[in-house]
Amino acid sequence: LALLQSHCLLYVFSGMCVPIVVGSLPPALPWYVPCPVRCVCQIKPWFSPDSVYHEAPTVDCNNLLLTKLPLPIPLNTHTLRLQSNLLSVLDTAVLHGLPNLTDLDLSQNRFSRVRMITQSSSLPSLLSIHLEENHLSHLPEASFSSLPALQELFLSHNNLHSIAPGAFNGLDSLRRLHINNNRLTTIDPQWFRALPQLEVLMLGGNPVEALPERGFVALTSLRSLVLGGMGLRSLAEKALEGLEELESLSFYDNHLTKVPRQALKRVPGLKFLDLNKNRIKLIETGDFKDMLNLKELGLNNMEELVSIDKASLDNLPELTKLEITNNPRLSYVHPQAFVRLSRLESLMLNSNSLSALHQNIMLSLPSLQEVSLHSNPLRCDCLFHWAARDTSHPRIERDTQMKAQVARVVRFIQPEATLCSAPPELRARRVREVSSGEMSASCLPTIPTSSLPSYVGVQEGGKLVLHCRALAEPYPELYWVTPSGLRLGPSAFFKHYQLQPEGTLEISRISPREAGLYTCVAENALGADTHSVTVGVHNRGKNRKRGVMTKPKLELNEVGEHYAILSWQSRQNLPSTRLSWQAMQTSSHTPTYTTRILAGTQSFNLTHLQAETFYRVCLHLGVSEDGKRDNLGSEGSKKPRCVSFRTKDVPEPQPGLQLNPELTSIAVTLLLLAYILLLAV
Ligand SMILES: *[C@@H]1O[C@H](CO)[C@@H](O)[C@H](O)[C@H]1NC(C)=O
Ligand SMILES: *[C@@H]1O[C@H](CO)[C@@H](O)[C@H](O)[C@H]1NC(C)=O
Repeated sequence: LALLQSHCLLYVFSGMCVPIVVGSLPPALPWYVPCPVRCVCQIKPWFSPDSVYHEAPTVDCNNLLLTKLPLPIPLNTHTLRLQSNLLSVLDTAVLHGLPNLTDLDLSQNRFSRVRMITQSSSLPSLLSIHLEENHLSHLPEASFSSLPALQELFLSHNNLHSIAPGAFNGLDSLRRLHINNNRLTTIDPQWFRALPQLEVLMLGGNPVEALPERGFVALTSLRSLVLGGMGLRSLAEKALEGLEELESLSFYDNHLTKVPRQALKRVPGLKFLDLNKNRIKLIETGDFKDMLNLKELGLNNMEELVSIDKASLDNLPELTKLEITNNPRLSYVHPQAFVRLSRLESLMLNSNSLSALHQNIMLSLPSLQEVSLHSNPLRCDCLFHWAARDTSHPRIERDTQMKAQVARVVRFIQPEATLCSAPPELRARRVREVSSGEMSASCLPTIPTSSLPSYVGVQEGGKLVLHCRALAEPYPELYWVTPSGLRLGPSAFFKHYQLQPEGTLEISRISPREAGLYTCVAENALGADTHSVTVGVHNRGKNRKRGVMTKPKLELNEVGEHYAILSWQSRQNLPSTRLSWQAMQTSSHTPTYTTRILAGTQSFNLTHLQAETFYRVCLHLGVSEDGKRDNLGSEGSKKPRCVSFRTKDVPEPQPGLQLNPELTSIAVTLLLLAYILLLAV
């Protein structure tokens, strides 16, 4: 039952608790009494609000189009079910004569005023009343004072738009209150003063945009709070103050854009946290830190989530289950995203946009038993060696092999659906069946396109935030290039621009002059990937001046026998710039070589040139990354800038070998010896 109860707590919102209970119940027994016409009278299993089992004499009159109470109701009725009828008034005098009436279900009827139910006599033994799906719109003061023993009050799916501050006065024993899915726009802290025993509160589905500070401070016994579907945008620092016993908290389906970190610090006892379906873009460093009791965390169904940053989950010693699934833009989990999660057993990462899961993540989770990665565009290359079929491939270092063995103990959930989507030759193969020999040993950076849109519009004076992430082995360096050609690397310091260590570029108070093409470059020893975003800055009505294109001049800085250093100055971000060069020889067919120039680069060392040769080098400017549409505006700017030069002569060999005298004498001696030997032969 303890287990059952915790399920109820967690799933209280979805209603899954009920089927779990029903599924394991003993059958109903016959109850021989005069039963109202068309109703069914049976002895049925019943659980008290604190989960104690009872055999309850039950009168079931559901779905009978009743407009008044059916008679006669047997004297020892415990549960009376009147769901889905047409009742709008109730003769409580009849119910008053039922000394053991404990559970009354009036859901899906036509009550529009609560006084129609609780008007006259009190029902001192009633523990539970269901009033869901009626037409209640207002709760006056002391609405339920005739139900002094009530422990459960269900008012969800009515039209409640106002509740008097003392509406719940007299409900000293109430444990569970559902007022979700009504039309409340504010939460009044006074409601809860009368409810010192309340353990479960469902408030979701009301159009409340902000919770009051210290609004729940009276609820010192509350264990579960469901705030789903409310339109919450942020949480005040003290919104959850005083909830000392709170174990389960749901923010399912709200408009939160950040993890409400400060508010969560006020509920240290939290065990289950659901942030599913919010507008959170990043899980940032320290978002979930030192939550010493947290057992399960859900970060699912977030349309905008792009990245789980370094140390975003840190020191959660009780966390056993982590679910980060169905986030269509989530393409990046930092290799050190999870720190000090010593008890994490289950890691659910399926149905995201992940290309890989870094081996360090597996190694940082000592208790991990299962991982779910299916339905992701997985790249079966160097980042996945830990998952390969055999890890004893000679090309892989011993250290990596040992680590991989550790990681392999982890069970894959749905291995038959965990498929490679790249490289092309491994597409549709099961990740666990690819051998490590088939996977490349190192890999180029790739910037997942799902994390960056191709166009972003910002209001003038607003804040521009662009998230760029890349995974590769060796670990890539990330930098941004602004429309004016400025390169913003991790070491560069610009007050106006901020480059977060994870690759997020932030520009506050953006001006129309800063509109244009921004390019992210991820580079490692093997190569680079780039992704460009066009930023539009909207200024009320005024025309935007187009930045005047300056024509960079190509210059020769230095020339050697086999190399030449060229440079150019650009005041513009030209991400698809190329450099081409050709030896100018009398023999006609010399090949032309081309190289891509990474955005933000303004000089290049051409190597492997032939000495004593004329070369012609050209700089081809380009904006669009696919190379098809290089719209620089004027025709003239499309023309490449070129220079010609001749590589240096190879120095003439010095006449005569300059050997030092000692060496010369040894050489002479050796020659003599050889001559003598030859003679001897
Ligand atoms: C009410 O319940 C008690 C305890 O189960 C029982 O002894 C009593 O007979 C019941 N009252 C009626 C009227 O059935
Ligand atoms: C350019 O490349 C050549 C040949 O690799 C090298 O000797 C030279 O030092 C390089 N110059 C610079 C400035 O990197």
